[in-house]
Amino acid sequence: MDWISTEKHAQRMLDCYTAQDVFSTAGVLLVRKNTLIVSRHIRLFRRHGIKSIPVLQTAPVPQQVQRRLEKIDPSIGEKYEEQFERMTAVFTADQLTRRQKLQDALDYFDTLLEPIRTSRSIFRTMQQLKGHDQYTYRHSINVGILCALIAEVNGLSDERVLEAGRAGLIHDIGKLFISEDIIRKPERLSEEEFREVKKHPIHGADMLQEYETIPYLHSAVLSHHERLDGSGYPEGAAGEQLSEAARITAIADVYDAVTSDRSYHQGATPFTGMKILEEEMYKGKLCSILGIPFLHYMIRTYTGTQVLLSDGRIGHVVQIPQAHIDQPLIFTSNQVINLYEEDDLFIEDLYDERMTLSSDDEAEGER
Ligand SMILES: [Fe+2]
Repeated sequence: MDWISTEKHAQRMLDCYTAQDVFSTAGVLLVRKNTLIVSRHIRLFRRHGIKSIPVLQTAPVPQQVQRRLEKIDPSIGEKYEEQFERMTAVFTADQLTRRQKLQDALDYFDTLLEPIRTSRSIFRTMQQLKGHDQYTYRHSINVGILCALIAEVNGLSDERVLEAGRAGLIHDIGKLFISEDIIRKPERLSEEEFREVKKHPIHGADMLQEYETIPYLHSAVLSHHERLDGSGYPEGAAGEQLSEAARITAIADVYDAVTSDRSYHQGATPFTGMKILEEEMYKGKLCSILGIPFLHYMIRTYTGTQVLLSDGRIGHVVQIPQAHIDQPLIFTSNQVINLYEEDDLFIEDLYDERMTLSSDDEAEGER
């Protein structure tokens, strides 16, 4: 159970459940235990002068997607939920049904990618999902979406975009063969456990070999942890040995791993994610030919977004300088702040749009 301030970090409560009944100072029950917190609850807490709230775990990922997208495009929420179930089915299937379940998940992914490609900003929502539960399924879907985006911003054909998406979706399929205890372990892994996890690309590639799946997917599964300078695993392959699919999947995988919540750390902001991608490209580990157009796309996407600063202020990103991607210029309180020139100020998080109230939400009243 965590206590979250209703003032400074209130947006972190969204998508969490209350851990206890919450009473006003006069003893009136305001919100019951196990209620999913939405923006109107936060207003209610503030109105009653409640300084902090005990929260439990976050809502399941499909539910978060539904809630975030219900006003933008509810059909994507439903499709995401269906995709999530199909991924769960792949990872929990027995040997007899696994191949069919995998095919189902791959086939369905085209249906999910289509609306995301036409309304790209939705991917920002997907990237903000909270919690580390069911990480492998969410990570698979996120990496699939990111791979398709990378292929698209690089001008690849529609067919290659879909293939890149499918490759991303199943890149970690080999984790099926790693013990659940290791995959779900909340703490950092021991050296031996990490050695075990590092076998997942080979397990995944062996499995696809049996299914005679197309080479594009096979190379992404086998080589998404390889690096262009030969420093990756499992084979230490380098340079020209790495296919386009493996290079795209590596970029998407690093970005999502850095920006997603894990059991042992809270996800970094997209700005930090971009900075890390840039550094890895600069060191010659990730492919800059495919990665730079993606970085430019991300810079355009996040220019204009609202962010929460470490001192509690909210501002708009007005410019993301290429030289300091993680320290953009922020407009707040009628002034522009250059984060590069501020020693102790940084972006804490993206500001959740749901904290800005709509009239519908207001009309629902207190519950
Ligand atoms: Fe992996």
